[in-house]
Amino acid sequence: MNTCQIDLIKSSWSNLISLDENPGILFYTHLFELDSSLERLFNGDIKAQSMKFTSMVTFFAYKLDDWEGIKLEAKNLGKRHTLYHVPDSSYRAVEMALMFTLKEALANLWNLETETAWKDLYLELEDLMVQEVC
Ligand code: HEM
Repeated sequence: MNTCQIDLIKSSWSNLISLDENPGILFYTHLFELDSSLERLFNGDIKAQSMKFTSMVTFFAYKLDDWEGIKLEAKNLGKRHTLYHVPDSSYRAVEMALMFTLKEALANLWNLETETAWKDLYLELEDLMVQEVC
C-alpha cells in the first residue's frame, strides 16, 4: 500500500468511527443478509462482536505505518478464526459487507480511490489470515 492509500484509510475510518452509530452493527446486519448461513458461526451478542470488529479494524487502520505489527496481529487473528470454523470462502462476503458499510456510512466521501485502498488492505489482511490455516 502506498502512503496516499494509507492516508485515505486513516481519514475515512476516522470519519466513520466518529459517527454516532457503531459501524459494526451495519456491517453484521448486511453480512447476514448476504449469507444467512454465517450467522450460526457467531455465539455471542452481535453488539459486543460489532465492538470487537470495529476495534480490530481501528487497530489495523492506525497501524499501517508498521507493517510488521499488522502481520503479527493478522496472523494471530487468522489462527483464531480457524478455531471459529470460519471457511476461507466466507472472506468474500465479509469483504462485500465491509465495502457496503464504508460506502453507506461515508456517503459522499466515498470514492474509487478510497474503495481501492480499502480493497487492497482487506486482501492483504485476508492473505495473512488464511495463510495460517495450512
Ligand atoms: C479482516 C477480516 C476480519 C476481521 C478484522 C475480523 C475481526 C474479528 C474479531 C476482532 C473477532 C473477536 C475475537 C478475536 O479477536 O479473535 C472476530 C471473531 C469472529 N469472526 Fe472475524 N474478522 C474478520 C474476518 C472474518 C470472516 C471472513 C468471518 C466469517 C464469517 C469471521 C467470523 C468470525 C467469527 C465466527 C468470530 C467468533 C465469534 C464468536 O465467538 O461468537 N470473521 N473477528
